[in-house]
Amino acid sequence: DPGIATYDPGFVNTASCRSAITYIDGDKGILEYRGYPIDQLAEHSTFLEVAYLLLHGELPTQPQLDQWTHDVTYHTFLHENCKQFIEGFRYDAHPMGMLMASVSALSTFYPDAGTIADPDVRQAQITRLIAKMPTLGAFVYRHQQGKPYVYPDNRLSYSANFLAMLFKMSEPTYQADPRLVKALEVLFILHADHEQNCSTNAVRSVGSSQVDPYSAVAAGVGALYGPLHGGANEAVLKMLRRIGTVDNIPGFIEGVKEGKEKLMGFGHRVYKNFDPRATIIKKACDDVFEVTGVNPLLAIAKELEKIALEDEYFIKRKLYPNVDFYSGLIYEALQFPPEMFTVLFAIGRTPGWLAQWSELVQDKDQKIARPKQIYTGARNRDFVPMHRR
Ligand code: SDX
Repeated sequence: DPGIATYDPGFVNTASCRSAITYIDGDKGILEYRGYPIDQLAEHSTFLEVAYLLLHGELPTQPQLDQWTHDVTYHTFLHENCKQFIEGFRYDAHPMGMLMASVSALSTFYPDAGTIADPDVRQAQITRLIAKMPTLGAFVYRHQQGKPYVYPDNRLSYSANFLAMLFKMSEPTYQADPRLVKALEVLFILHADHEQNCSTNAVRSVGSSQVDPYSAVAAGVGALYGPLHGGANEAVLKMLRRIGTVDNIPGFIEGVKEGKEKLMGFGHRVYKNFDPRATIIKKACDDVFEVTGVNPLLAIAKELEKIALEDEYFIKRKLYPNVDFYSGLIYEALQFPPEMFTVLFAIGRTPGWLAQWSELVQDKDQKIARPKQIYTGARNRDFVPMHRR
């Protein structure tokens, strides 16, 4: 009877939607954006070009890319009032909490954002969100650091502008090393979309009520904040720091096998083989460390990976490094504090969230999200007056 729901924790075997955006084969370790393998895009493309591909389904021509880059570049500024609510956060507020609140607040600055049936309105909000996420990320970071805001410098590329807004102090122009800008671009590309993951599912679910995209993306930021999802890269660094030395790895692994904790950055709901992004990020580590010097935690990470991959516990459960295992090492080498790592993940994932949202709101068959439940509680009970409870 189609009316009877079958219990499927985490929707592992049920399809919540049809989508033509990202293809994953978890057994073969395949990831493609609109049919293009992730390693080709990481090697040859830029983040804005990949964002265009995810949103429109095709790689842009040069005029299309020039127009898209122009539109994003000239929407990087925030309404000045945004500073007032960022100022309202404590100095030690977690950047993801500040980002989630700030993204949802953006919906109040664009009252027409809810008229999502209009393609021009949709495109305007998509452009604004992709343009403003780095500015919001930089502003919450500067607030947390007690430093003055650095406004966007629209002469710079997307990722160079972000690094300048984060790290510029008294120098007239902040010029990040081009190799570091390239590494950040690759990381953003690798995080840009990933099919129906937890945060994208949140964006689609909230978006299915036909709310504006800022509110839907804010829900995605909230889901990504969790340590089992986007927060894992921050948790990996804390785990490596707690292990401390290579000699402590066997003891740590035993603790994991006893169920005391998880090996953060390992395992995946879909990949039961290598996460192709982890392989690319591991290579990017070498490029970044050429500039910044090797992160001392890299040796622990590599030995931990080696031991885990040879251990029956992990082999039997098909646990391999995922996108978060090495990304934190690069972010730390780029001078980001751990609590900013998931903000970087959110900036990279924004085009994917918006491509999935846009696909959803244009799908005539897509209804408002309303998952079934299997009721396990009591039924038809008589009310109990207070004196008899
Ligand atoms: C991301 O979905 C996406 O696409 C997400 C993402 C994206 O791009 O959006 O790829 C980004 O979220 C990557 C994942 C980052 N999270 C972590 O690294 C946290 C550590 N990983 C785990 O919490 C876990 O692997 C999950 C949450 C990622 C996946 O969990 P599943 O699919 O529910 O796995 P499971 O719980 O069914 O695991 C099966 C077994 C269990 O053991 P048993 O009960 O069979 O004895 O494997 C064990 C789990 O306890 N297990 C782990 C483990 N992950 C699973 N044991 C130790 N360490 C781990 N990391």
